[in-house]
Amino acid sequence: MKIGVFDSGLGGLVITKAFIEKLPEYDYFYYGDSIHLPYGEKTSGQILSYSLAAMRYMISQGCKIIIIACNTATSISLRYIQQRFIPQYAPDIKVLGVVIPTVEVSLQNGIKRVGVVATSATVRSHIYRQELEKINPDIDVVEIAAPELVPAIENNKFELAEEFVKEYSRSFKNVDSLILGCTHYPLIKEYFRKYLPGVYIVSQDELMAEKLQDYLQRHPEIESFLGRNGLREFKVSSFNKHSQKVATNLFTDIAITKA
Ligand code: DGL
Repeated sequence: MKIGVFDSGLGGLVITKAFIEKLPEYDYFYYGDSIHLPYGEKTSGQILSYSLAAMRYMISQGCKIIIIACNTATSISLRYIQQRFIPQYAPDIKVLGVVIPTVEVSLQNGIKRVGVVATSATVRSHIYRQELEKINPDIDVVEIAAPELVPAIENNKFELAEEFVKEYSRSFKNVDSLILGCTHYPLIKEYFRKYLPGVYIVSQDELMAEKLQDYLQRHPEIESFLGRNGLREFKVSSFNKHSQKVATNLFTDIAITKA
């Protein structure tokens, strides 16, 4: 069986790349629901329904463990998936998200003020605030939605993205750490580091692979089912001329196909 990685589009390939580099022995199945991108500007009902359809599809494709790389889908859908959907539909499958591992890393070293930059839906859910406050009720949290960033990155407009980062960074001058709470932001993490020197920038491509490795070591009942055949499948729900280009920029030898 496979390690599944789910995202609303191709942004999750950044984390997948980190998984494959750290844990190359396993088989992987990537699914990007690009037909519905961006999730970040959709209603919670839409996001939940897209996420459930994606889970059904990925389970049908042989995923034993699914990592929801999409922050928006994690924020809105993960709890329902873990508590209601999985127990009824596929009790042997494990689904994990990105929020808790990110929160754990962001709170290291006596940090007192944490910034969160994410999509509108993620900020609206306040999931990061809730999870940060569960660990440290005295923490100060500044959450800002950045709806312009995903379209700028998707359209390869990195200069424009940098302008937005410069602007958003003003709101985070006083934080100790800043969570980049969106799959796409690792691609512009250096802009945040440039405009927020001294702030600890938490980027999911740098933390999730270690968290997954740790999880698999602690859960042989999942790990022992994982195939080791070098399989890498990358599927999207809608294929456009940018899909292959974006993917090839990240991986040299990758074939994206329509699900
Ligand atoms: N994958 C989404 C996230 O991490 C960003 C793109 C979208 O809005 O669909 O929140």
